[in-house]
Amino acid sequence: MTQFLHDRLLEAFASALAAAVGQPVETIRAQVKPAEPEHGDLAFPTFPLAKQLRSAPPKIAADLAGRLSVPGLEITAAGPYVNARFEPRSFVSGVLSEVRGAGPGYGATDAGRGKTVVIDYSSPNIAKPIGFHHLRTTLIGHAIANLYRSQGWRVEGINYLGDWGKQFGLVAVGLREYGDPARRGEMAHLVDVYVKANARAEQDPAFDAEARAFFRKMEQGDPEARALWTELRETSLRGFLPMYERLGIRFEHIDGESLYEDRMDAVIEEISRTVGVKESDGALIVDLPYAEGEPPVLLKKADGSTLYATRDLAAAEDRWGRFHFDRALYVVARDQSLHFAQVFRVLKAMGKPWAERCIHVAFGRIMGMSTRAGKLVLLADVLDEARARALEKVRDSASSGRIHTDDPERLAEQVGLGAIIFGDLKNRRNTDYTFDWDEVLEFDGHTGPYLQYAHARACNLLKRGGGTPPTADATLLALPEEQQLARTLARFPVQVRAAVEQDEPSFVARHLIDVAVDFSRWYTLGNQDREKRVLHESDEALRAARLSLADAVRIVLASGLQLLGIAAPESM
Ligand code: ARG
Repeated sequence: MTQFLHDRLLEAFASALAAAVGQPVETIRAQVKPAEPEHGDLAFPTFPLAKQLRSAPPKIAADLAGRLSVPGLEITAAGPYVNARFEPRSFVSGVLSEVRGAGPGYGATDAGRGKTVVIDYSSPNIAKPIGFHHLRTTLIGHAIANLYRSQGWRVEGINYLGDWGKQFGLVAVGLREYGDPARRGEMAHLVDVYVKANARAEQDPAFDAEARAFFRKMEQGDPEARALWTELRETSLRGFLPMYERLGIRFEHIDGESLYEDRMDAVIEEISRTVGVKESDGALIVDLPYAEGEPPVLLKKADGSTLYATRDLAAAEDRWGRFHFDRALYVVARDQSLHFAQVFRVLKAMGKPWAERCIHVAFGRIMGMSTRAGKLVLLADVLDEARARALEKVRDSASSGRIHTDDPERLAEQVGLGAIIFGDLKNRRNTDYTFDWDEVLEFDGHTGPYLQYAHARACNLLKRGGGTPPTADATLLALPEEQQLARTLARFPVQVRAAVEQDEPSFVARHLIDVAVDFSRWYTLGNQDREKRVLHESDEALRAARLSLADAVRIVLASGLQLLGIAAPESM
């Protein structure tokens, strides 16, 4: 398994402590935490030892600190804590050679080798307007897929289209009334027809019945109904693909609920054999003990049509058969928590040992997202709006000399998408957040454009300094800001790993902000003091050392942005 410098130092500290107190290293390792910055890098609290050693924690800490000696660490006591500071000269050199040795993709490991993760994400509904949750699942799912891949997992990303259901009946009947034959191949038109037909069905029971009848015909395999379904599905897919392309997303599989239509009877049969089913108001439900007020798991409606849950049960079984996954993630809005809890519960009750490997990766809501033109109909509208707003910003910043670009249109696409993606991923996925166009596009805030700008700054320093220096004496990097920056760079792989463990891309997103903030604090020192310029005017060895630090920053920012699905332009 790949170990990074940070891991090795932590391990050395934990082993030395473990030997000194006579406890297993696992126990000690679990107690070592990041230190308060003024106290160093790692901290070990001695409270838990007080009883066993019959001594006061500060005394234990002082005693341990006096006895421990670990190469690469300066060990001290502060109150009840034993603290370790990475010995700066060897640490900074070690970080730079580690990062620059790895190059792009720094942070990658093979920890997941031989393991498979299935990731159900994006999964929009065909011929229906998008919801903002589709934006979130697309961005979060993409980042999670990249993160797992970077840790050596085999990733099977599935776009599980909502391509089965009554909406096809509504669109089919709606096309007759509201359709424009010339626009029949446009996804936006289908959505428009759906919206009108849906409103009409609410007022007009005959229309509604006609739509239901159409869907039933589809379910029974009527060739005409099926042909229309195929056409609508293809039109929608053609509409979605350019958006995925813009975001750099490639799914390993584009499945859909329709895939499971002819497996419904088999699943229902298996459930009735293993768990039991019963009738409730004419519908067929799973016979489980339900909590007070909990809606039952419906397998079949009174009219005989099958449901979302039934199809998810069949899909889970199918995925197990195809992939024998170690984890199966469902990146879906928190609103569907009950649905997934119930699906997993039924799988467990059916005796599927792999049910425990299924995880609902839930996320909260976006509030306040709209465009100047009003409503968002398609996800691509959000991306277009982002690009348009970014273009204004790019033009303004270019005319004030803040940024430089030969291709404002291309840069606007990168910055606009970067703003949206980062604006989402910097939030803990399970929180709700309020979206604000001005805020996400800010070059100075905690934003995607700020990170892209920092990355371009690092590239620019290297260009002006004559490229990346092949060798450099990193021990010359003695400024506190340089050491701080090196520490932050070294923690990047730790955050990547945590992001995979908790399916939480925000860990990486926020860490990149720390990198960019520490970087800018360092490279702006030269504005006050010529001696501190990255491109030192007379001392070539120092300039080379500083350039190699800028190079490591460039690598970490590029790796992190790539993991999040954000472009890293080299100049702006
Ligand atoms: N199409 C569903 C929706 O838009 C999401 C599907 C999520 N995946 C799943 N296996 N249920 O709400």
